[in-house]
Amino acid sequence: MVKDSKDNNLAVFEEGSKYLMATYSRLPVVFTRAKMQYLWDANGDKYLDFIAGYGCLNVGHSNRLVVNAIKKQVENIIQPSNIYYNTRQVRLAEMLCNITGFGSKVFFANSGTEAVEGAVKLARKYSKEKYGQNRFKIISFNRSFHGRTMGALSATAQEEKQRIYQPLLGGFDYANLNDIDSVAEKIDNDTCAVIIEPVQGEGGINVSDNNFMKSLRELCSKKRVLLILDEVQTGFARTGRMFAYENYDIVPDILVLAKSLGGGMPLGAIVTNDEISSVFTPGSHGSTFGGNAASCAAGIAVIEYIIKNRLAYRAFNLGKYFAGRLAKLKKENTIIKDIRGLGLMIGLELLKPVAGEIVERALKDKIVINKISPSTLRFLPTLVISKKNIDTLIKWLSKNLKNFQA
Ligand SMILES: Cc1ncc(COP(=O)(O)O)c(C=O)c1O
Repeated sequence: MVKDSKDNNLAVFEEGSKYLMATYSRLPVVFTRAKMQYLWDANGDKYLDFIAGYGCLNVGHSNRLVVNAIKKQVENIIQPSNIYYNTRQVRLAEMLCNITGFGSKVFFANSGTEAVEGAVKLARKYSKEKYGQNRFKIISFNRSFHGRTMGALSATAQEEKQRIYQPLLGGFDYANLNDIDSVAEKIDNDTCAVIIEPVQGEGGINVSDNNFMKSLRELCSKKRVLLILDEVQTGFARTGRMFAYENYDIVPDILVLAKSLGGGMPLGAIVTNDEISSVFTPGSHGSTFGGNAASCAAGIAVIEYIIKNRLAYRAFNLGKYFAGRLAKLKKENTIIKDIRGLGLMIGLELLKPVAGEIVERALKDKIVINKISPSTLRFLPTLVISKKNIDTLIKWLSKNLKNFQA
């Protein structure tokens, strides 16, 4: 029997593969403790983390402020139920409205995919009521990722993820990132919304151009189509601003948030204005656990920590430093094809499909990195890492990429 942290990596790994469904190709290390940018495995070995729980830990693992807020909250009440107001939910909603600037109403969910589902329903209900029953079509982008539930998967324009689950939900169409004509061609009288990640995360760290985002905002306004920004991965200072849309000087109609919002706790949110939110009336949407008091207490602490420690500014500066060091590395390494990113969301595309091998080798050397395709590595560290931590990774890459020269 697995007795948690007393067991070593291998014992837990073996029991895990026996009892858990194989939806992930799990690596043979079991993390049992974490603090800010570091992780410790079941054998007590320390690792430097460059993936931050898939981007959930912008404020660091078990950040003290977040831990204290959760502890205090669970002692009082965890889940008052959504037919009553919950003080932590109300406070967090107010904070989200303040920091987004454009928002005045919030709905809480448990995850990114659930928040995307809510945004799709909100856009459809609003558009049907305002413009007519046929207005339900949603445009997303090739290589996007919006989640694993059927609605979010239908918006996720990646053939290999969608194929096995056909038929998908109807009413989704796909345009090309940074190609405004391809969006204009798809919009017709039945279109209610466009959903986009300002930087595509799972699809390859593909950054939207400034002109494209501005034109997209203008096009959506002109055609009276809602612009939904999926900032599940890009939100909360990741790209050098509190939200990625600030880099483009635009605002969305609906903003979808999750991941780092909860500081490691399950939490998602939709932020919009009074007019759009007015179509969500009692019974039209809901979530039993969404916005539970413990997760919202964590969310409040996350936002306070980001603002107090100027993490957006930190991500901007460290992102520049990191990208600069990678650019230098590219000059020495023929295997590096491209470096893409914004702030501390960086992708390194290789000329050979060896990303998996590199991830495993790094793990052996106690550095946690991640691949998003056979040839693309992704760096999504906590925003509390230091320059020295980045130097450690660069030194490791410099030494190890030599073995994979193209
Ligand atoms: C942009 C984006 N949207 C939605 C999701 C889905 O979020 P979750 O895994 O919390 O359901 C993800 C997850 O990676 C994401 O990156």
